[in-house]
Amino acid sequence: MEEQALKKNFSFQGLFLTALAILLTSGLIALTIHQVQMSDPYMHQVLSLAGNPHQGQAIYQMNCSGCHGLDASGKVGPSLWKVSDRRSQMGLIQQVISGNTPPMPKFQASPEEMADLLSYLNTL
Ligand code: HEC
Repeated sequence: MEEQALKKNFSFQGLFLTALAILLTSGLIALTIHQVQMSDPYMHQVLSLAGNPHQGQAIYQMNCSGCHGLDASGKVGPSLWKVSDRRSQMGLIQQVISGNTPPMPKFQASPEEMADLLSYLNTL
């Protein structure tokens, strides 16, 4: 009986160590991705600008409201309310410029336009 209990403890420890190793590895991968993205001069430039949310709203209304709605509550595309709670700043920039999720097109915004747009998205 006692021996069995000991064995059980041991495997729990193994499980714990494996989980810890997985956690550390994925943390390291996330950090590497973050570093690589930050080394992208476009990302760096956008994030170094303050951005004007009023300008950003105008850009939004022209380019995005057809799919996401004038008040950003969603239409063809999802609602963007509180989107900056769900997505990182770099994730949002990536979403706008990448064209990775059709039918949302790829936007070629200048760093200034992107910073304005981002500052508007952060107000939603
Ligand atoms: C042709 C329609 C269309 C246009 C125009 C469009 N989007 Fe989208 N957008 C979508 C769709 C559809 C999705 C969902 C994609 C998916 O995840 O599969 C999406 C997703 C997003 C997301 C991610 C939302 C989340 O919850 O993660 C953001 C942010 C976003 N769009 C911002 C914008 C911005 C900013 C613009 C304008 C520069 C824009 N979109 C223009 C259709 C569009």
